[in-house]
Amino acid sequence: MQDLDRLIREATAQFAAVADPAKLEQVKAAYLGKGGVLTALLKGLGSLPVEERRTAGASINRAKEAIESALEGRRAALREAAVDLRLREETLDVTLPGRGLRLGGVHPATRTLDRIEALFGSIGFEVADGPEIETDFHNFSALNTPENHPARSMHDTFYIEGAPGLLLRTHTSPIQVRYMLGHVDRHADTDPMPPIKVIAPGRVYRVDSDATHSPMFHQVEGLWVDENASFADLKGLLTDFLRRFFEKDDLRVRFRPSFFPFTEPSAEVDMGCVFCDGVGCRVCSHSGWLEIAGCGMVHPNVFRAVGIDCERYLGFAFGIGPDRLTMLRYGINDLRLFYDGDLRFLEQFR
Ligand code: PHE
Repeated sequence: MQDLDRLIREATAQFAAVADPAKLEQVKAAYLGKGGVLTALLKGLGSLPVEERRTAGASINRAKEAIESALEGRRAALREAAVDLRLREETLDVTLPGRGLRLGGVHPATRTLDRIEALFGSIGFEVADGPEIETDFHNFSALNTPENHPARSMHDTFYIEGAPGLLLRTHTSPIQVRYMLGHVDRHADTDPMPPIKVIAPGRVYRVDSDATHSPMFHQVEGLWVDENASFADLKGLLTDFLRRFFEKDDLRVRFRPSFFPFTEPSAEVDMGCVFCDGVGCRVCSHSGWLEIAGCGMVHPNVFRAVGIDCERYLGFAFGIGPDRLTMLRYGINDLRLFYDGDLRFLEQFR
């Protein structure tokens, strides 16, 4: 009996001596396992005289239970210790300030488009849209740009493989064509036809890529068709628009004779360089002027292509480069920043 008591004390002490649950199970095996001390004692019962077996068996079983309960106690203690350790190591400081909601922002290119829409909207312009994959009829032919025109060259235009007659629009002017066709349809029996006053912002594509040219860029088309739309109106409209856009009442604007197949006469619109105030700097190539748009009076052939009476109606059109406006307004010197998706750049516009 004394031996059993010692055995219990010894097992309990051994259990207490290990701190690792896996080790504890190994120590357990030495007492309670198949080859353990208690199993051997129970096996040894058979060799005892019958009258001793009962009491001896009962004692061994009590010892076994005592050892089992010591083991269970140690297991529980180790489990608890592990939980305590985790709780201590993984504490959360609930008083730390939160990370905050990271609100997105409107991309600078989109901001400019929104602003342009708002400015033209305030003087009664509608906003129109058109597909970015265009037919060469809408992008070129209807715009008085015949088949052999250099603008149709592979060097300038992305054609769609396996789809003859389809291309990525090189400008937003095809929206003029689509809008006029729709407008004429809608007002086929009104006499006279109500005026057209529309702008059309959108993405356009050309084979071009450097610090100031991206193969995808934006344009905002404008079109005004009426019985007496004049070049003077065009000049006033664009000058006023640019002054309002840059919030600069004395911004200088000039119209330089130019050529577009779909306008006649045509002009390039320049504004006084906002960086050097017209003195001349790197940005304006020391000319004091920055090119900002193309424009002109709608060519009669364009009216013919869409079924508008070119004896009765006059119109002017313009194509603004909003990305250029964005760069000038925010002092951005590389167009590629717009499309890199770099948060350090974009977050400045939140
Ligand atoms: N579509 C012309 C371009 O992309 C710009 C333009 C639009 C010129 C409307 C005149 C009238 O260069």
